[in-house]
Amino acid sequence: MREYTTRKVAVFDTTLRDGEQAPGCSMNLAEKLAVARRLELLGVDVIEAGFPAASAGELEAVRAIAGMIKQTSVAGLCRARVEDIDACRIALSKAAQPRIHIFLATSPLHMHYKLKMTPKEVYEQACAAVSYAACFCHDIEFSAEDSFRSEWDFVAAVFAGVIKAGATVVNAPDTVGYAMPDEFERFISYIKERTAGIEKVKLSVHCHNDLGLAVANSLAAVRAGADQVECTINGIGERAGNASLEELVMGLQVRRDFFKVETGIKSELLYLTSRLVSHVTGIRVPPNKAIVGDNIFAHESGIHQHGLMANRATYEIMTPQEVGMPHERIVLGKHSGLHAFTEHLSARGFRLEQAALEQVFAQFKALGDLKKVISERDIEALVMGVAIQVPETWKLNRWVVNSGSNFTSTCTIRLEQRNGTLSECVSTGAGPIDSAFKAINQIIGKDLVLLFYDLKALSSGEDAQAETTIKIAWQEQQWNGRGLSTDIVESSIKAYIAAINVMEYERELAAHLAAKAAESDKLKQVPVGAANKPAALIARQA
Ligand code: KIV
Ligand code: ZN
Repeated sequence: MREYTTRKVAVFDTTLRDGEQAPGCSMNLAEKLAVARRLELLGVDVIEAGFPAASAGELEAVRAIAGMIKQTSVAGLCRARVEDIDACRIALSKAAQPRIHIFLATSPLHMHYKLKMTPKEVYEQACAAVSYAACFCHDIEFSAEDSFRSEWDFVAAVFAGVIKAGATVVNAPDTVGYAMPDEFERFISYIKERTAGIEKVKLSVHCHNDLGLAVANSLAAVRAGADQVECTINGIGERAGNASLEELVMGLQVRRDFFKVETGIKSELLYLTSRLVSHVTGIRVPPNKAIVGDNIFAHESGIHQHGLMANRATYEIMTPQEVGMPHERIVLGKHSGLHAFTEHLSARGFRLEQAALEQVFAQFKALGDLKKVISERDIEALVMGVAIQVPETWKLNRWVVNSGSNFTSTCTIRLEQRNGTLSECVSTGAGPIDSAFKAINQIIGKDLVLLFYDLKALSSGEDAQAETTIKIAWQEQQWNGRGLSTDIVESSIKAYIAAINVMEYERELAAHLAAKAAESDKLKQVPVGAANKPAALIARQA
């Protein structure tokens, strides 16, 4: 029995919005859906799915996530503008628990240089935006962007105004990661004491990591009474990133004696959630990354190993099981059956539909013919590949490369289109991979640019699978692709084709959305006319 009472701190995950916004972290629709599904399973309280006014594709992604997620609130971000709020409410119309998240900056720097607004105008626009959004949604979050560098009493006044206008959550971001933990704790205490009506709403914090203090500041805010923490998986986000969800949650869990709070997170799903986000963004998790890094439970020194053998608590403050870190490296072999395979996946929190399960199992068996032992990493990569796949516009049919010293590398490659058409091409290049990519460019008739290339072995041994992650660009847009094979050239070719398939899929989707938008302008179907919109909002946008 516990000797202390606990309160619940809500976890607001913004991996799909603030995280996805960071350079190199963009995700396609299939990837966003896979991450959102995983976040729901993990037990986050709110999934911030995107910024619907940013583009038609972003609106559709938020709409798709909102339609799929049932247990968790889904939030959409918007500026304090009518058109952003309209886009957000359309995107969230199918959400079981929608939240409209409005932000407006309150610091002198942002108000003067970015917004070119006076404090009075900011106050009025914030209140007007919240009262407009409150016509459509019961759950409205208001964020005072750059709040920590604002006049603290002005933040308290704006929060009091938006609470009166209908906000249910007020969020105090340290947008540029400037605060020190003690100061941030004082700031949150100040806001709690000085904001009229704060007891009726949730107080949230959103910390960036520019000085490496995002988690420390968020934890300090919890000490001061914050009810919600905003964070991302692996801490991805703008510049140095956001507070990392896994570090925050385990800080609160391991030191429950100190914080006396609880979250609803199933910590045993943290490791694979981190792997999924790393997989879809192509951003590797450093081996020494707190909580989810591969070295977190590895002990080299003899003294430590000796201590651990006597009692694991000597050098470990949490167990691998608590964060879902696989502890046995070799798991299944080619003789394992579907039953053992399914058990293995469900023990790791992977839930696949029958068709996807059969597909992964077939890939697992094929891999078993190539490799003696199949590692956790191999299985993870297969499952994640299936979870985020898009339709295959192009498929690899066959390839051959001739490469060596004092020879020009040459690749012959044949691709198959969805309708069965085969196209073959030969190209030379600076190396085997360059020649292969050039041959593919010729087949598809596009001069794609390779922006990023990363190759890693998923396990040790000569028969290890290679995982290639690449990013391609064409006409100012970018797409990611991943490929797996025991052959490094084939893994690279598969990654390139995967990125092309994402490009084709997204371009088809964009064309479909444009056609739909032309057919019916959804914003015109909104029953609220300009006459109903708050004067302050209309005045600012005129
Ligand atoms: O960092 C920030 O201030 C934000 C807000 C939009 C919440 O991301
Ligand atoms: Zn942010």
